[in-house]
Amino acid sequence: MRFEITIEGPFTGISQLNSKLESFSPVMKRVPLHDDETPEIGRILIVIPGEDRLDRELSIIAGIVTEIERMLSLKPGFEIRVRNLAYSEPSAGSSQFAEPFNPIPSITIQPWSPELEHISDPHTIILDPRHAFGTGKHPSTLLCLKIMDLMAGDTSRASNIKGCKVLDFGCGTGLLAIAAIKMGAETAMGVELDAQAARAAKSNVALNRLSQRIDIMEGSWEVVNDKFDLVLANLVVSVLLKTGKSIPRHLIPSGAAVVAGFGENQAKDIKCFFEEQGLTVTRQFTLKGWSAFMMKPRLGGRGGTI
Ligand SMILES: C[S@@+](CC[C@H](N)C(=O)[O-])C[C@H]1O[C@@H](n2cnc3c(N)ncnc32)[C@H](O)[C@@H]1O
Repeated sequence: MRFEITIEGPFTGISQLNSKLESFSPVMKRVPLHDDETPEIGRILIVIPGEDRLDRELSIIAGIVTEIERMLSLKPGFEIRVRNLAYSEPSAGSSQFAEPFNPIPSITIQPWSPELEHISDPHTIILDPRHAFGTGKHPSTLLCLKIMDLMAGDTSRASNIKGCKVLDFGCGTGLLAIAAIKMGAETAMGVELDAQAARAAKSNVALNRLSQRIDIMEGSWEVVNDKFDLVLANLVVSVLLKTGKSIPRHLIPSGAAVVAGFGENQAKDIKCFFEEQGLTVTRQFTLKGWSAFMMKPRLGGRGGTI
C-alpha cells in the first residue's frame, strides 16, 4: 500500500523544508488563496511506497519539520497529514480533480480555482475539498448522489427530495447537502465531526451562495435537535454502526434514509443492523464493490422523540 504525506505551512518555511527533504522526492505547490488576507501557504506531497517504511520515514520527516520550525520560529508552523492511497479520493488540486465532471447527469462539479468566477448555473456545484472527503469521485458518494437523483425524479411525495428538509450526517465537503438543494430540497443541515472538514463544508456552502439554506454544524448527533424528511449518512462501517442507531429518531414517519460507505460483502450485516433499529431497506444499490441502502421507517418502528 502506498501512503501520501502532506505537509502544509507558511510558504517560506515550506520552501526551506522542500530543499531539506530532497531524498524523499517531494512535490511542492503553492496553495491557492481564498482571500487576500490569508498568509501565503505552501504544500509538499511525498509518496511513501510501503507500510513497512512509513514509521521510519515519518520520524525522519518530523525531525526535519521540527528543526525548520525552530529555525524560523514558525507559529502556527506546519501541519502533517498521512493518507492511505488505497482508500482515498484524489486530493484537491491533483490532476484527477482539476476538470469539471458530471458524477450524475443532472449535476456538474466544478473544482474551485482562484480564477473561477461565480457560476450561476443551477446544476453546477463549485467544490474545494481541501482535506475533506467528498469530491464526488468515490463510489460511496456517487451511490448517494445516484439515489438522491432517483428520489428527485420520483413523483410519489414520500420519497421526493423537492421541498424536503435534509440532514447530511458526516457531511465532509458538504457535497451531498449542496447537491440536495440543487435537486430541490428546501433546507439542509450538514454535520461533521472533523473541524477542518466542517470548515471546508462551510466554505463550499458559501462558494455556492447557499449559506441561507444550508447550516453546517461541527460535532455529531448532539448538535442535531430536529427531525428530517431525508437523512443521508455516508460513513465508514465502524462509524455507521456506532452512530446509525440515532437515524430513526431524526426521521419523520414518512421520511427516508440513505446510508452508504460499506462493501457489497458487508451489506447483509448492515441490513440486519438497520432493521433492528426499526428501518426497512427498500432498495440496495451497488457500484464497484460498494453498496448503499435506501430505507424508510418501519410502521410502528422505534422512531421516538429527540
Ligand atoms: C466517508 S465521509 C463522507 C463525506 C460526504 N458526505 C460524502 O458522501 O462524500 C464521512 C465523514 O463523516 C465524518 N464523521 C465521522 N464520524 C462522525 C461522527 N460521529 N459525526 C459526524 N461526522 C462524522 C468524517 O469526518 C467524514 O468527513
